[in-house]
Amino acid sequence: MRFSQVVLIISLVLTVFIVLQVLWVVFDVRLPPEVPTNVSRVVITDEVIYLTLPRKVTNISVEEVILLRRSIREYTSDPVKLEDLAMILWAAYGVTDPRWGFRTSPSAGATYPLEVYVVVGENGVLVRDGEYLKPGVYKYDVHRHLLTFVKSGDVRRELAVAALNQKWVEDSPVNLVICAVFERTTARYGERGRVRYVPMEVGHLGQNVYLMITALGYGGVVVGAFYDDRVQAIISAKPDEIPMYIIPIGVPKEPPRTTFEDIWRYIEGRRSS
Ligand SMILES: Cc1cc2nc3c(=O)[nH]c(=O)nc-3n(C[C@H](O)[C@H](O)[C@H](O)COP(=O)(O)O)c2cc1C
Repeated sequence: MRFSQVVLIISLVLTVFIVLQVLWVVFDVRLPPEVPTNVSRVVITDEVIYLTLPRKVTNISVEEVILLRRSIREYTSDPVKLEDLAMILWAAYGVTDPRWGFRTSPSAGATYPLEVYVVVGENGVLVRDGEYLKPGVYKYDVHRHLLTFVKSGDVRRELAVAALNQKWVEDSPVNLVICAVFERTTARYGERGRVRYVPMEVGHLGQNVYLMITALGYGGVVVGAFYDDRVQAIISAKPDEIPMYIIPIGVPKEPPRTTFEDIWRYIEGRRSS
């Protein structure tokens, strides 16, 4: 083959590649698998729980959710529905950009250092009428939007003890445990990643959880006071996954009822004093 032919072939390949890129960006052309017709489908095997797919499920506005967000520490005995847990997990760290895999929570350099574990209590997560997830610890797989099984057993009491006996950790049907793999961020940003970026990102995720649970009618609280090593052992996290937040979630005994009128009165009162 002559040199000019090689150059021609390479040019052709490059041209096709560039055209495809332009099509992708300009016309949003993608070759995804068929869009599933049943986004509500739940498949549960011994090792994996395929969650219902993310979609619009509430009619509350963002300003109403922000108004109603509160740290809630008392719950009824009602479970969290699996379809709601699916939305909460997606809101926490799910994918919102299919092209690059960017998430619901921002991340410095898109290094995504966080991992989300789910601690499910006895009868804590309702799959469908009378059917519950088996109690245990699960891990959220963000890209496949599913839970993988980590260990069995209701560990809420142990978790509450490791969290300085904060009883809401034991009383809630579900706890999320947010862990950070610091190296993913420090490899690029060094010390600044450790002391600033990773903790900031945990906060972003926590707020997303607060907002989604509020919109769905649940309550919860971000818990930062606990023994890291004990929590890590209880949920069988990997050695480089450092627990940052425990977030108990349940149906509030007393849902927040603040109105904008209450806030107007507060502001007017402060202005006139
Ligand atoms: C970093 C951080 C750590 C927290 N740790 C705990 C905790 O260990 N236990 C708890 O009950 N609440 C904890 N909270 C919740 C705060 O107590 C709560 O946000 C505060 O009282 C304000 O109430 P609000 O969230 O309803 O606005 C924590 C909040 C943050 C931001």
